[in-house]
Amino acid sequence: MPAPLRIGLAGLGTVGIGVIEIIQNHAEMIAMRAGRPIIITAISARDPKRDRGIDLSGFAWEDDPVALARRDDVDILVEVMGGHEGAARAATEAALEAGKDVVTANKALLAHYGQALAEKAEAAGCTIRFEAAVAGGIPIIKSLTEGLAGNSIRRVMGVMNGTCNYILTRMEDAGLPYEMVFEEARALGYLEADPNLDVGGIDASHKLSLLSSIAFGTKVAFDGIEMEGIGAISVDDIQRAGDMGYRIKLLGVAQMTGRGLEQRMTPCLVPQDSPLGQLSGGTNMVVVEGDAVGQIVLRGAGAGRGPTASAVMGDVIDLARGIRTPVFGIPATKLAETVSAHSAAPSAWYLRIRLVDKPGALAKVATKLGDAGVSINRMRQYGHSDGDAPVLIVTHKATRDDILTAMAAARATNVVVGEPVALRIEDV
Ligand code: HSE
Repeated sequence: MPAPLRIGLAGLGTVGIGVIEIIQNHAEMIAMRAGRPIIITAISARDPKRDRGIDLSGFAWEDDPVALARRDDVDILVEVMGGHEGAARAATEAALEAGKDVVTANKALLAHYGQALAEKAEAAGCTIRFEAAVAGGIPIIKSLTEGLAGNSIRRVMGVMNGTCNYILTRMEDAGLPYEMVFEEARALGYLEADPNLDVGGIDASHKLSLLSSIAFGTKVAFDGIEMEGIGAISVDDIQRAGDMGYRIKLLGVAQMTGRGLEQRMTPCLVPQDSPLGQLSGGTNMVVVEGDAVGQIVLRGAGAGRGPTASAVMGDVIDLARGIRTPVFGIPATKLAETVSAHSAAPSAWYLRIRLVDKPGALAKVATKLGDAGVSINRMRQYGHSDGDAPVLIVTHKATRDDILTAMAAARATNVVVGEPVALRIEDV
């Protein structure tokens, strides 16, 4: 049997322990599949004394992950510490400088420094693999870089933050307000240490930026994403959208348009009977549309020990086999500069507007929509309460700019009460 591939494992949280478990439980099977044994030689984490429920005595310990990356008995670095500055970045750079491949679950690191790190890796003749960084256990990176490599990708979409999907699903099922479900999610340990990473759409946007780069051959452009979290979604919106046949999801969409790369991570309505509409709880889903393959849908756990460690091990086994695809599918120096186009593509919109209950109020708003070039497809008015009347409108396709113009004009009339809500209806 050829020499083993020796891992330096940085990070002993949920994912790190999951990686150790898989290697211990499946050593023989993995060696057969990889063509050589895969072993962990050294580990690093913040607290050497913490009981992690697993025997770590067989591994050399390093306090400093950079020293771990540089060890002579480490062939590849597996970085599952997280955080896009500090130790994770330093250890990754140290490994690449030493000519070692890196496997990481760190979406934030790659969203911010992916291009520089990919160039560094490729100049050193090595690579960075990051299946675990996007949608947990779903092998979407491998699907895009390998299985779908013969396609021109038209659109990538996904629900890639399980916590947001849990919150939205639970609000719908239990009829509970956002704030209450947010606290439930916190108590269940679903939220990141900085919850805004989840509910603000940042974590999912990190992931989308990586998928966009592979799908469209462009440099990672996290800053080009139009991002909006789920904090403003009300139970009312969820229920009203349901009445019209839709569900609200925090949906990431990336597509190349005539004006550039459109990337957005925003609450969207999707048809209830579509695969995305039927996704409930903390599960993730990624939808890819290619010119040859058509549409494919991948669904699975987006977080958690087993699923994330599974993705890490897929990458590690590929490296043990000698498979070294460029970090973002094509050489980093060939990735195109990204021209970001904000919401260039038109779509249908869901509008919820509260009107004063006076003759002509609806006509006034309809006129403002018409003036902005927004055409009404369907409309529904609900029972009046406290002197105002909620109206739901589904528009024909309109650009975001036209909708914003129409909403501003509607607000400026004296018939709209409070803030109108405008959510895109994604054609899935
Ligand atoms: N917090 C993320 C989620 C998992 O809820 O899906 C890590 O990216």
